[in-house]
Amino acid sequence: MISPATDGITCFPLSVDVATEVIVKISPPNCAATLPAELRSPSELRSAALFWLAESDAVRKAEGVRLLAQAWTSGAIELDMHAALAARRPIPGKPDKPELVSPLSVRRRSMITPEGRAILIHALAHIEFNAINLALDAVWRFAGLPREYYADWLQVADEEALHFSLLTGHLRDQGYAYGDFPAHNSLWEMAEKTRQDILARIALVPRTMEARGLDATPPVRAKLAQAGDMAAAAILDIILRDEIGHVAIGNRWYNWLCKQRGLDPVASYARLAAEYQAPVMRGPFNLEARRAAGFSELELAALPTQFK
Ligand SMILES: [Fe+2]
Ligand SMILES: [Fe+2]
Repeated sequence: MISPATDGITCFPLSVDVATEVIVKISPPNCAATLPAELRSPSELRSAALFWLAESDAVRKAEGVRLLAQAWTSGAIELDMHAALAARRPIPGKPDKPELVSPLSVRRRSMITPEGRAILIHALAHIEFNAINLALDAVWRFAGLPREYYADWLQVADEEALHFSLLTGHLRDQGYAYGDFPAHNSLWEMAEKTRQDILARIALVPRTMEARGLDATPPVRAKLAQAGDMAAAAILDIILRDEIGHVAIGNRWYNWLCKQRGLDPVASYARLAAEYQAPVMRGPFNLEARRAAGFSELELAALPTQFK
């Protein structure tokens, strides 16, 4: 067991089995000796989410989030739903690389070359890095919500950390690393725009940006499989399965908030999308995945013409 620290920051009480599993699955082998010191964080969930959001080391952030989720499941983490928290370090914490550039200057990738496929995997890893940050932000930023809300977004953060680890592990197998190529930041920019209103955040991040991932993943998976990268295709299968769950969580809390505020979900979405300049929705849409994620038939029918 790892013993508690004495500076107000607590190490999660990990069993040897859990620590071993983490080392095997998501840490390079030489992390074993430093695991306890690296993975200290507050023992209250929302404070811990803010702590890991501010972490700039991408690998440590992913490891810390996975351990936080395990500690939460084991009952070792408290929850203060009402605390007014403030970030004391810059958020989101991010490494010096990848260099962030305009979406227009991110290189197009050819599936024919190993480097082209690495650029694609890198872009997906960067999306997952941002997705970890977005889920952590949903946990710490918005106070006064039900316990299940925080548990849901912690689960999302945990799965995003898994996706990031799988993709960066695959990159490593190809001789590349996260940070080797430039990336764009549009996912986090939408988080910035919607930081004042949880309804807008959920409408436009999980129900718009993440839902676009449901549409985009099958064709990308097919391209990778066609190029013979079956390992990457298998990772995308995991991601698509989990992302349906993330969008479902978005739909759950969006509809809950609409009900609380006496708002019509469909009309409110159109209003928020216009107000916050959501990206234009373009098909083809993965209606099966969107349906599985809980979009209503009314919402699905509205998709192709929603922003015309
Ligand atoms: Fe993800
Ligand atoms: Fe996600």
